[in-house]
Amino acid sequence: MRKWTRVGFQPNLPLEEKRRVTECKEHIRLSKEAAKEGMVLLKNEKKLLPLAEGTRLALFGKGSFDYVKGGGGSGDVAVSYVHNLYDGFKMQGNAVMLYEPLAEFYRENVQEQYRQGAMPGMTIEPELPKGLADGAKAFADVAIVVISRFSSEGWDRSSLDSQLSEMSREELEDNYMAKLIAKAFPEGDYFLTENEKAMLNMVKERFNRIAVVLNVGGIVDVSWIKNDDRISAALLGWQGGMEGGLAMAELLLGKGNPSGKLTDTFAASLDDYPSTENFHESCDYVNYTEDIYVGYRYFETIPGAKEKVIYPFGYGLSYTDFRVHTDSVWETSKHIFAEVHVTNTGNMAGKEVVQLYFNGPQGLLGNPALRLAAFEKTRLLQPGETQVVYLSFEKADMASYDDLGKIQKSAYILEKGIYRFYIGISVRDTEEAAYTFELTENIIVKQLSAHLVPTSLKERMLSDGTFEMLPQYECNDMNECAFEKLKTEEEDCIVPEVRWCSRRKWFDNCGRKQFIDVAEGKLSLDEFMAQLSDKELLHLLGGQPNTGVANTFGLGNLPEYGVPSVMTADGPAGLRLNIGCTVNTTAWPCATLLACTWNPALVWQVGKAGAKEVKENNLAVWLTPAVNIHRNPMCGRNFEYYSEDPLIAGKMGAAMVKGIQSQHIAASVKHFTANNKETNRKNSDSRVSERALREIYLKGFEIIVKEAQPWTIMSSYNAVNGHRTSESYELLTDILRGEWGFQGMVTTDWWTCGEHYKEIKAGNDLKMATGYPERVKKAMEMGLLGRQELEQSARRVLELILKID
Ligand code: BGC
Repeated sequence: MRKWTRVGFQPNLPLEEKRRVTECKEHIRLSKEAAKEGMVLLKNEKKLLPLAEGTRLALFGKGSFDYVKGGGGSGDVAVSYVHNLYDGFKMQGNAVMLYEPLAEFYRENVQEQYRQGAMPGMTIEPELPKGLADGAKAFADVAIVVISRFSSEGWDRSSLDSQLSEMSREELEDNYMAKLIAKAFPEGDYFLTENEKAMLNMVKERFNRIAVVLNVGGIVDVSWIKNDDRISAALLGWQGGMEGGLAMAELLLGKGNPSGKLTDTFAASLDDYPSTENFHESCDYVNYTEDIYVGYRYFETIPGAKEKVIYPFGYGLSYTDFRVHTDSVWETSKHIFAEVHVTNTGNMAGKEVVQLYFNGPQGLLGNPALRLAAFEKTRLLQPGETQVVYLSFEKADMASYDDLGKIQKSAYILEKGIYRFYIGISVRDTEEAAYTFELTENIIVKQLSAHLVPTSLKERMLSDGTFEMLPQYECNDMNECAFEKLKTEEEDCIVPEVRWCSRRKWFDNCGRKQFIDVAEGKLSLDEFMAQLSDKELLHLLGGQPNTGVANTFGLGNLPEYGVPSVMTADGPAGLRLNIGCTVNTTAWPCATLLACTWNPALVWQVGKAGAKEVKENNLAVWLTPAVNIHRNPMCGRNFEYYSEDPLIAGKMGAAMVKGIQSQHIAASVKHFTANNKETNRKNSDSRVSERALREIYLKGFEIIVKEAQPWTIMSSYNAVNGHRTSESYELLTDILRGEWGFQGMVTTDWWTCGEHYKEIKAGNDLKMATGYPERVKKAMEMGLLGRQELEQSARRVLELILKID
């Protein structure tokens, strides 16, 4: 097939495919298998799970019907069906018996709430009639209580009212979705509602065999599970995609063995997360005062924090037992290696995740007590079977970033002292290895330059829980522009026309050099670009209108030169198409669940399968993966992100990118960077130290760039230390390209408030969803940027198109 024929023919005409892959059986099966592998068994006492064949079950909670397959916004897709937990059990034939009157009650209630406009996960827990609870008790041996939650981009999860500043309260009043969720969850959706508590109490009064199932996209209160002996088992089912309910039912029945491990720390209370205190302090900024002490780095290090943990990072039970034995740890000049033997000592086949943490010297910089350095999941081990697992990482990866010059300014340093290694199956369940690595001198691993220096962050946390003051610099160019600033984000934006031309016209080009000749090696890109006017170059630097099934706009679109209009699509839940086109696609489990598989090879498969759907629908850029850090449970988009830990985010993101790009589809890694809050997301300033940026908020992106070379990166809406990320030369040129060697194209997030000419100057090549050519032209007339800068960005846009089939 001639190059780019595919992207020129939308909507989905599956070219050269023997059969359709979009939402095909194989993909749905993969979605279910991934869902099963990332669900985390939190508790299993009295051997309640797996449920015995023939168990009589009562499903409590509207969540047994109101299944939330994933969050909302760009991380949502249209599917043919969604299986809830009730469906999942019904699909098991006679394996279990369900108390139908109770099911009938919830089914009708949920349907009625949907009819009245409620969205999945935003329904209200109905009052449970006493008669039904008594009937369930008479019928069933085991009660399963289902709790579900929903969140989305553009708003944060609901906090307790007392945590909101006056400003945040006003912002919430303006946000329709935030208002809805606050209404449905007046106590904050992190906690059980009064109705849920009442339902749970009625169950506890009647049953002594209770399992809880959580259908959530982010961290919720689990103290009521951990601390109550009447609740014997709990499965954290996350938001598992279209087959999530079926995946949960199969795991509960022992058709598969849970092997998911937490990629976040579950603390006793929302207030235990150090970032909660100022999360809603302001709509204009967020002070990252906890610094590098995010997630387990905080809980394992800061005095008094350990006790606050309910379920630690890396934790997850199995129906079988494993013996994990470290055979040896050794070093070469650059690396640390470990050989670990894992034996399944129980009665059921299962997988285990070996996790390697290190503890470095506190030194002058101060460090987290433990940091994850490597991990490896075993294959499915039969009872009695052993697998030898090898883990390795670079010594340099243990270095800390010195942003204040305590040893050497702007350098990654391995401080002198002893490095210890802990190997096990969660951050809390490890054994210290006999081997230690010792340094008698500090080693400068890499000398960098100061970038993105904080301007308004006054203090940051140290490893003993005290705070140090940070030097202050006066600088904030968030709203600076050489001429009159845009009043609203969409004002002045010119949506270009669809410049579609017939196939015949592709070749009737009035002597213009054609782009296909560049693709076929007959013409250099330089020669091709030399013929383009400034106007045409500018055209390439802005998004192009939707065609066919697309709803997130495209790029290219210069048909007279044979430059196709290639379309983008969201990510990360699956392929998100224009809802009106009625094409359904596979809904994958949410990203947090995928991360909890700790299985990059599986994530690679999901990336590959998802990209096949993108390709079949003749789209070209998939706006995924999203790899922001879970800084605080309240962030409305955490379900789209992987973890509180940058190594997990980086490894999973890299696997996803490789899977996607194996299909010649561009992955767009987003949102670069420190986009950890949704409220006022386009104008909120993330104030964060250079060290926390380097070690936490940039690290995942750095791993992905170095391991997977994504074809595109999406800068974020927010500012970092007073500079919009899309306008930040330091971020996009100095760090991303200069330090990490990124070869691809940078796009803005959609309808950012950044000034287009400043974005081009910073190295943000494409402005989505459309550009502002008139404003850039004006800037050129004022001598603020020149043709060379346009060429540089246009070249990257064209190079991206050259990579696509
Ligand atoms: C989101 C991005 C998304 C884009 C296109 C934005 O609102 O932040 O993640 O890819 O829209 O839908």
